[in-house]
Amino acid sequence: MAILLTGGAGYIGSHVLKQLLEKTEENIVVVDNLSTGNQACIDALLEIRDFHFAKIDLDNLEMLEMLIERFEVTDVLHFAASIVVSESMQNPLKYYKNNTAKTTGLIELCVNFGVKRFVFSSTAAVYGEPATNPVDETVLLAPINPYGRSKLMSETVLRDASNAHPAFKHVILRYFNVAGVAGDGSIGQSFPDATHLIKVAAQTALGARDALAVFGTDYPTKDGTCERDYIHVEDLADAHLKALEYLKTHPSDTFNVGYGHGFSVREVIKTMQRVSGVDFKVEMAPRREGDPAILVASSTKIKTRMGWEPQCDDLEHICKTALAWEKKLHEN
Ligand SMILES: NC(=O)c1ccc[n+]([C@@H]2O[C@H](COP(=O)([O-])OP(=O)(O)OC[C@H]3O[C@@H](n4cnc5c(N)ncnc54)[C@H](O)[C@@H]3O)[C@@H](O)[C@H]2O)c1
Repeated sequence: MAILLTGGAGYIGSHVLKQLLEKTEENIVVVDNLSTGNQACIDALLEIRDFHFAKIDLDNLEMLEMLIERFEVTDVLHFAASIVVSESMQNPLKYYKNNTAKTTGLIELCVNFGVKRFVFSSTAAVYGEPATNPVDETVLLAPINPYGRSKLMSETVLRDASNAHPAFKHVILRYFNVAGVAGDGSIGQSFPDATHLIKVAAQTALGARDALAVFGTDYPTKDGTCERDYIHVEDLADAHLKALEYLKTHPSDTFNVGYGHGFSVREVIKTMQRVSGVDFKVEMAPRREGDPAILVASSTKIKTRMGWEPQCDDLEHICKTALAWEKKLHEN
């Protein structure tokens, strides 16, 4: 048996891959087209122990089929996707093709070749602008951009596939705002155009950007700026290992992954300024379309059903690890 990771050279996939390599003895196959992923992460992780890496696109079904058969893949962790909301508004077809159509092709292959368990990277973007917080898994699904819709469509495909083929089970993990990097500094988020606030704040602290823009200061929140649930990527990675175990004895299901409390943009900026010691420039900008005021996960379900317990729920730690990684990138 083996586990197939798609998008394993990317930010979240590489952190999950790291934990799988360190904590399990499973055979692992990674596919990634390196469009936003990083060969250096793959090289760093090969130092832990061996795994098979294929630089292919998800649309290479022939090669995927060959890998699933050759390695007798039983489990799939599907991270590969396009993830920039603003880009999805300008180029929606890219998102429906890369996220929904290619995921459908992969799911079909998994069903046809007897894959047992499939863990899907979904997102809080499927909730759109929820009326109440914290958001639990029963809240109305109303994405407000093509990225969120492309993910929700993939969720639907997955649910229908499992309903029709009960031997093919899935867990959908809806991530909130993922941040931070591995504590040992070996891997991190390498794509320079990433839009995540904590990464951008770290880049600004290091002078790679002139200023940090705050989009909207008149939201009905504690200080007028948006509040988000920032989850450390190592806690998120652990949720994937738990999901694989969970699926061995439980039916398909969907879980939010977040800490259940939020920080405002201003609080994040202050924390990054404190840990970096740099009072970097901050510019106020108008609201962006489609940014809900508050987006915080209810994580009760994943905690009670899977026994998931966060270990890194500390904004300062998240900012420190993100900054250390950005420094490493900066120096290279
Ligand atoms: N980063 C977040 O805050 C966040 C939040 C919610 C959900 N997610 C989801 O998590 C998953 C991983 O996101 P990430 O932040 O690691 O992004 P990322 O861009 O760092 O990783 C995506 C990886 O997939 C690869 N890839 C993309 N399209 C591919 C294709 N067609 N064929 C092969 N490889 C392909 C990229 O090269 C990259 O290595 C995505 O599915 C995303 O929707 C991320």
